[in-house]
Amino acid sequence: MSRRIALIPAAGHGSRFGSATPKQYLLLNGRPLLAHTLDVLCGCAGIDDVAVVISPGDEWFDGFAWPGRVQVLRVGGASRAESVANGLAALAADEDDWVLVHDAARCCLSPDALQRLLDDVGDDAIGGILAQPVADTVKQGKVGRIAATVPRDGLWLAQTPQMFRAGLLAEALQDAANPAITDEASAIELLGHAPRLVVGEAQNFKVTWPGDLALAGAILAARKGLQA
Ligand code: C5P
Repeated sequence: MSRRIALIPAAGHGSRFGSATPKQYLLLNGRPLLAHTLDVLCGCAGIDDVAVVISPGDEWFDGFAWPGRVQVLRVGGASRAESVANGLAALAADEDDWVLVHDAARCCLSPDALQRLLDDVGDDAIGGILAQPVADTVKQGKVGRIAATVPRDGLWLAQTPQMFRAGLLAEALQDAANPAITDEASAIELLGHAPRLVVGEAQNFKVTWPGDLALAGAILAARKGLQA
C-alpha cells in the first residue's frame, strides 16, 4: 500500500512580502503562519507523513513549537523547485508513494479541499492539483497600460497541494533549475503528461503581499469560531 506524504517547502525568504523575518514565521493569531499550514496536513487522517523543508541556515524554526508528527528536512535550495527536489530526495519515499507538495504560505487550506484532492486524484495514473477557475477578466500589461485582454475561458490558477507519485515527481524535477518549472505540475507537463485539475477554493491563497496576513488571520479565526 502506497503512503501519502505531505512535503511543505518552507525555505523561501518571502522577498515580495518585504519583512526581515521570512513570512512563514510571521505570527498569525499568536502562532507562526507555518504552524497553521502544518495543522491542516497533520490533522488529515488520509496523510501518513508530514515533512517540512527549511533552509540549511534557518535561524527561526527551532524557536517555535510545532505539531507533533513533523519531520524536518534542512535541505532547502535556491528556488522552490530545488527545495522540493532536495526534500523529495531526503524523504527516501517509495516510487509509488504519493507526495503532496503544499506551499508553506497557503495557511488557509481547508480540510474539505484537501480531502477533495485526495478523493478526486484517487489512484489517477498521473496525479493532480487544486486549482481555481479564473473569475476576473485577465489583462496583459505593458509599462502600466493594457496591451491585451486575454480570454479567460479555460484558464485556471494553480494552487497547492499538488499530488504526484514520488518516482514520477523525482524524474520531473531532475532539471529543477529550469525556470519554466514554477510548480510541480509544470514539471510533470514538461514530461508530456496532463495532471488532473481539482477545484480548489479562493481561501487557499498564497500569503504573498503584506495585506494578505490580516486576511489569512481573519479566515483562520472565523473557522475556529465556527468549530468551537
Ligand atoms: O515565494 P513563494 O511564496 O512563491 O514560495 C512558495 C513556497 O515555496 C513557500 O512556501 C516558500 O517558503 C517555498 N520556497 C522554498 N525554497 C525557495 C523558495 C521558496 O521552499 N528557495
